[in-house]
Formats: sequence, C-alpha cells, structure tokens
Amino acid sequence: GRVGLITLNRPQALNALNNQLMRELMDALEAFDKDDDIGAMVITGNEKAFAAGADVKEMAVKTTLQMMDTDHVAVFGRIRTIQKPVIAAVSGWALGGGCEVVLSCDMIIASDSAKFGQPEINLGVIPGAGGTQRLVRAVGKALAMEMILNNRALTAQEALHYGLVNRVVPVGDYLNVAILLADEIAVRAPLAVRAAKRMINHSSESFLADGLAEEKQVFYNLFASEDRKEGMQAFVEKRKPEWTGK
Ligand code: HXC
Repeated sequence: GRVGLITLNRPQALNALNNQLMRELMDALEAFDKDDDIGAMVITGNEKAFAAGADVKEMAVKTTLQMMDTDHVAVFGRIRTIQKPVIAAVSGWALGGGCEVVLSCDMIIASDSAKFGQPEINLGVIPGAGGTQRLVRAVGKALAMEMILNNRALTAQEALHYGLVNRVVPVGDYLNVAILLADEIAVRAPLAVRAAKRMINHSSESFLADGLAEEKQVFYNLFASEDRKEGMQAFVEKRKPEWTGK
C-alpha cells in the first residue's frame, strides 16, 4: 500500500551500521519521503538484530581528526529531516548507533525479544548520534544515566514500562503490527500528519541542536584517547579491554 518498508540487511554483522549501510538507509528514506505514493515508512532488521551499533571495526582505526574531517556521524542526522512518519520495527539487538536510529524514529514497535542499550562506555566512548540527548527525553535522566554510564540494557517489557516503545508484541507479529500502524497513518491527511510530526518533535527538540553538536564533538574527541583505541581493538580481538584512563 502506501507504506515504504526498509530492511537493514547485514545479518553477518548483526546489522552493524557501517557507512555504506547508513547511506543506503538514508537514501531509501529520502526517496520514500519524496514519493507521493508513500505516506509512512517502516525500518526493520531481522529477528536477531535491528542493529548492534555503528560498525566498530570501521571506527577502530579512526583518529579524532579523521572522524571530524569525514563528519562520521552526520549521516545519522539525515533521519531527522524526513517529513513523513517513520516507525521502527525492532527485534533483538538495538544497541549503540542502532538504538540511536530507533530513538530518531517517530514510533517503535518491539518484539518481545528486543533489547535496547547504549554500550559505548565499553568502547571508551559515548553515544555520538543523539543517544545522550534523546534517551534522557525518552526514558528520563535517572535511567538514561544508568544505561549510558553503566551499559544497562532494557528488555522490551522494560522499554514499554518506561515509555521508550509504543507496543511489545510476539516476535512473529512485530513487523506486521508496525506495517499495519504505518498503513493506518499513511492514509491520513498528509499535510496534517507531517505538521503534527514536526510539532511533536519540536516540543522536545528546542534545545536539542546545541546538545547534539556538543555530543558529537565530545564523541570525536574521545577518539584521541588510549582507552578508546583499547576498547575497540579489544572488541575486534574478542578479549576484555584494559582501561588506563589515558
Ligand atoms: C562491528 C559487529 C558489531 C558492531 C556485532 N558485530 N556488533 N561488528 N560492529 N557494532 C559482529 C561481530 O564482530 C561478529 O562478527 C558478528 O557481528 C556476530 O557478533 P557476536 O559478537 O559474535 O554475537 P553475540 O555473541 O551474539 O553478541 C551480540 C552482541 C555483540 C552482544 C550484540 O556482538 C556486541 O557486543 N556487539 C557490539 C555492540 C556495541 O558495542 N555497539 C556499540 C557500537 S559504538 P565476526 O565476524 O567478528 O564473528 C556505536 C557508536 C555510535 O554504535 C555513535 C555514532 C556513530
């Protein structure tokens, strides 16, 4: 019908969001946004993973300067320029940048196996694509602190309890429920739907731009630390990181 469906499809890496995947995701969203036959969009992954984060293997070799020069995170920001509603259909892991993509969507349908988390602290960095700013708005400061400072992941039921997601449904149904919801919205008054989305986001985003700019800079700066190199290298080598505080 009038729903544009986008499936993240790098299952061998739990849909880790490398640059190519992010560019293709945003190109697809923007194409649907321009298409008069589409009224709403659904982004999904597979049962095991929506996305396990930005691609650590891609970032592990980067310096602060390289992260800044290429503005590594900028591609994530394109999702917020989409005017039509975007629903995330999440099963399995939604971690790091994957959770940040979900937080940038307008509604979230979760399967009962969904897990939401910001594990960047384990890599010696912070969420760099909106997590520190949007999570606190989504679940409140206390829980956001625990999730970001201490890698506390939320189960689907917890995410529902704290208001992060719209619904939790059995794993066999989550995609259909998301598409059905998108389908209902897609046939509503297009201008009013877009205006409502814009204004609802405006209510929580008035001070967001400053926060996002600051967050991105801090994220890039951490690429100069020994701990960040150690954290990412340890992941690649499948061992525990040894922190030195440098
Ligand atoms: C690159 C990843 C990946 C990632 C998983 N893989 N997550 N590759 N980047 N973020 C790869 C693994 O290396 C492995 O491939 C394959 O996917 C399967 O993963 P396993 O670890 O073997 O699976 P499992 O034991 O089931 O553990 C699942 C997991 C774990 C708990 C989700 O994969 C994990 O901790 N992933 C990293 C999560 C993370 O730190 N995300 C935040 C990234 S930083 P190979 O070929 O090696 O076997 C971030 C910052 C965003 O997102 C800021 C904006 C840019």
